[in-house]
Amino acid sequence: MKLPKPQVSVLETASATEEQTIEQIAAKTEQKQETVAGAAFALEEEGYVNIASKTEEEIELTDEGETYLKEGLPEVRLYEAARKADSERINIGDAISAAGLSNQQVEIALANFARKEYGTVDGGEVTPNPEADPEADVEVEALEKIDVGEDSLQSEVVDRLDSRGLITRIEQTVRAVTLTDEGVTVLMEGIEAAESVGQITPELLASDRWKDVEFAEYNVEAAADQASLGRKHILRAIADRVKEVLVGMGFKEMDGPHVDADFWINDCLFMPQDHPARTHWDRFAMEKPRQINSLPDDLVGRVESAHRNGVGEDGEGYHSPWSKEFASALALRGHTTSLSARHLAGEQIGKIEPPARFFSVEKAYRNDTLDATHLLEFFQIEGWVLAEDLSARDLMGTFEEFYAQFGIHDIQFKPHYNPYTEPSFELFGEHPETGEMIEIGNSGIFRPEMLEPLGVEEDVMAWGLALERLAMLLTGAEDIRDLHGTLTDIEFLRNAEVIY
Ligand code: PHE
Repeated sequence: MKLPKPQVSVLETASATEEQTIEQIAAKTEQKQETVAGAAFALEEEGYVNIASKTEEEIELTDEGETYLKEGLPEVRLYEAARKADSERINIGDAISAAGLSNQQVEIALANFARKEYGTVDGGEVTPNPEADPEADVEVEALEKIDVGEDSLQSEVVDRLDSRGLITRIEQTVRAVTLTDEGVTVLMEGIEAAESVGQITPELLASDRWKDVEFAEYNVEAAADQASLGRKHILRAIADRVKEVLVGMGFKEMDGPHVDADFWINDCLFMPQDHPARTHWDRFAMEKPRQINSLPDDLVGRVESAHRNGVGEDGEGYHSPWSKEFASALALRGHTTSLSARHLAGEQIGKIEPPARFFSVEKAYRNDTLDATHLLEFFQIEGWVLAEDLSARDLMGTFEEFYAQFGIHDIQFKPHYNPYTEPSFELFGEHPETGEMIEIGNSGIFRPEMLEPLGVEEDVMAWGLALERLAMLLTGAEDIRDLHGTLTDIEFLRNAEVIY
């Protein structure tokens, strides 16, 4: 009979009387474990072998266990130090320092010292029990055995070591293979390795050779090593999905500088120059170069006038100082609304004809205090719609549509204030783990004081949503630092999926 090569070698290696694990057969036949497992399952299906699965417990020393193996258990060290003293009893502080115990080890030493009847501790003095024999300490003996992989262990001692945190138990499924009677018969009748083909090629089809070859069968249930391949970071994956959704809703992507003049970041947004967000406390200013090369003069004039006097007949400005010098200062953008300002002003890609929809998913930078919901840089999902007669309902409807694409249907809105929008709304979403409503974005309809200087005659509704907050809602992460940075769990990064 012809069988694929791996199956032939498994049949020839297996025995009818003695169980052999997949691991052992793999080592003997110099094949990968997954190949052997696949072949063994195929043979089992034909009835040529039996596979018995059992869970085996493997025990390993923890770092603490390793340390004690090398340096001795704290209670044994305490005992030995006390025995070395000249008198029957010794001051506890002296015994501890003679034993060289660290602060954490002292409590461990004392608790186990008494339990194992190594002696008594009373009135600040240690009295070692002369009868005790640390050489015969069963826990030390077990640590030594575990270290060399011996398995004749007493279960109470193992439980004790486990509760002391000196070992870890790892459960493993072990599969053992034996030949069946049928397997023995086929072997005796003689088996031959067939050329086994794992992939169909054009040559194979054209040459008619496919008629003679044996096709390898895939066993998708076979145990295999888990491969951790490179993959896209969850936050990037969510950003990509956000872009797809927005493109699907008819938006175009905008782009622009990370470092920009305050003019584009703040002044064009009718943010007064003495606004607290414009102080060095909140922003990352540039030292070299300190200022932007040029700004469009006409626009600077119109923006200045809006700040000083407002717009329209009964306009009202801030009546506070305004200088072009201040507006020219460079900083890392504190929001990506600077991109919206540049685009609406016609500065970035020329005049934009309404109706138009634009978005970006880009970084913004703020000198915040690091905590569970704030990092110094984060991604904003910026967006705006330019059209005639927009209302708050259009804005809310857009968000409902957007978040619904991620399975989020319970967005709540709260009235808010921005110098550049009226009305303004903050957005909140319910955190799936804590049930708390967390802020996920800010939005509004741009004011005439912002739009008129930019030369926009229609309405513009706009927003900045936090990508990381969306990611928290989607993954259940409770801390932004669970999503990226050094504290992030590697298993989470390996397995997290964007679900929608
Ligand atoms: N710039 C605002 C922020 O960073 C977001 C926003 C953009 C609000 C556009 C309204 C309009 O919070």
